[in-house]
Amino acid sequence: MMGQYKSIDRENRGSDFSEVMEDYVKNRHFGEYGGRYVPEMLVPALEELENCYFSIKDNEWFKKELWDLMKNYSGRPTPLYFAKNLTAECGGCKIYLKQEGLNHTGAHKINNVLGQALLAQKMGKKVLIAETGAGQHGVATASVAAKMGFKCKIFMGEKDIRRQYPNVYGMKLLGAEVIPVTGGTGTLKDGVTAALKYWTEHLEDTHYLLGSALGPYPYPLIVRDFQSVIGREVKEQIMEMEKRLPDILVACVGGGSNSIGLFYPFLKEKQIGMFGVEAGGIGAKGGQNAVRLGDNSCKGIIHGYKSYFLQDEMGQVLQTHSISAGLDYAGIGPELAFLHDCGRIVFDSVTDSEALEGFKKLCELEGIIPALESSHGVAYGMKISKECRGDEIMVINLSGRGDKDLFITAKALDKENWFKFLREEVYND
Ligand SMILES: Cc1ncc(COP(=O)(O)O)c(C=O)c1O
Repeated sequence: MMGQYKSIDRENRGSDFSEVMEDYVKNRHFGEYGGRYVPEMLVPALEELENCYFSIKDNEWFKKELWDLMKNYSGRPTPLYFAKNLTAECGGCKIYLKQEGLNHTGAHKINNVLGQALLAQKMGKKVLIAETGAGQHGVATASVAAKMGFKCKIFMGEKDIRRQYPNVYGMKLLGAEVIPVTGGTGTLKDGVTAALKYWTEHLEDTHYLLGSALGPYPYPLIVRDFQSVIGREVKEQIMEMEKRLPDILVACVGGGSNSIGLFYPFLKEKQIGMFGVEAGGIGAKGGQNAVRLGDNSCKGIIHGYKSYFLQDEMGQVLQTHSISAGLDYAGIGPELAFLHDCGRIVFDSVTDSEALEGFKKLCELEGIIPALESSHGVAYGMKISKECRGDEIMVINLSGRGDKDLFITAKALDKENWFKFLREEVYND
C-alpha cells in the first residue's frame, strides 16, 4: 500500500518569485535563503570563483568546450524515454523518463563536475576536492580529474563508504584519494564539513568542487546553471515528441541539484506542476528520515548558507536516515527552500520501502535499474499519476543508474542468495 501524498493543485502554482530570483546575483540570497556565511579567509576564494564564472560563462569558446565534453565524454544529450509499460501500469498520464543515469559515470553529477573542472583549470588550480554521499559525485570528480590532470581528494563519511563501496573502489581506481570522515554521523554532511575545512587550509592550489546546489554563494548559482542542461534538453525533446510542454515534473531531492536542474528552465511556465521528492526513510520521527521541508526542520545557517535544516534546538545538525546515501543530508539548497515557501514547487516524501517498490517496478516493467535516489522520484510519480488525466504528460528525472546500490538492493530484496554468494566469495578466496 502506498502512503498518503499531497494531491495536485492545478489552480495554485505559487506567488510571484521572478524578481527575487533575478536579484540573486545582486543580493546573494533567494529571499532570506542562501548567502555566504563563511570564515573571512574563504571569501577571496569564493570571489575568485564568482569572478571566473562570470568572466567566462557566456564566452562562445567556453560554451563550446563544455558542450564538447558533455557530448563526447559524457554522452549528452541523454534520452527522454516514453515509459509505455509504466504508463499502462499506472493508468494515469503519459510518463516519460529523463535518463540521466546514461551519463558517463552513471548520474547527473558529471554535468556540474565538467563545468566546475573547466573553471578550476581556468583559475590555475592543481587539486580538486569534493564531498560525496552516494559516491556518484565522487566518481564523476575523480574521472574528470584523471582526464584533465588534477590531483583529487574525496571526503566521504564512513557510513557512506560502507554502503556505497562499489563507488569507493571506482574512485580509487580512478586515482583519487578517498578520505574517510569519522566524526558526526558518517554521512554527507560530515563530508561537506571536512571538505570545507581542508579547502580553508589549501586555498592556493585547490578548488572545492561542490556537488549540489547548496553551500555559500556562488555555488548554488553555478551548480544550478550547469545542471539546467537537464531541463533545457527535456524542453526540446518533449516539444519534438509531443509538440507541447509537459504538465508535471518530478525529481528526487538531496541537496537539490538534479531537481533544480530539471525545474529551472520551466519555472516561469506556471501551468506546469513541479514535485520535489525527499527521503521519507523509515518513519516520521526525528532521525528516521531526511525530510527538510516537513514538520521537524527549522531555518538555520550551516555549511555557509541559510536554508531549512534538520537540527536540534541548539542548532546542532540532527541525524538523518535514508536508504539512499545521496538523499541522506540534513539541509536543502537555498533556491529550493525559497521556491517551497513561494509555493512554486511542492515537496513531499516517500519512504525507503516505497522507493524500493518504485525500484522494482522500473526494473520489471521497463528494463531499467534506477539509482535508489531516483527510485524515490519513480515511486512518487507512480502515486500521483493516478490522479492525472490520460492526456497529461509527466516527466520523471532518473538522476542515476542503480549499479552502485547493488549491495543494498540485493540485501533488501534477495538477502539469502546474496549472503550465500558473499560467503562463497570470501571462503573460496
Ligand atoms: C543518483 C543521484 N540522484 C540524486 C542525488 C541527490 O543529489 P541532488 O539533490 O544534488 O541531485 C544523488 C546524490 O548523490 C545521486 O547520486
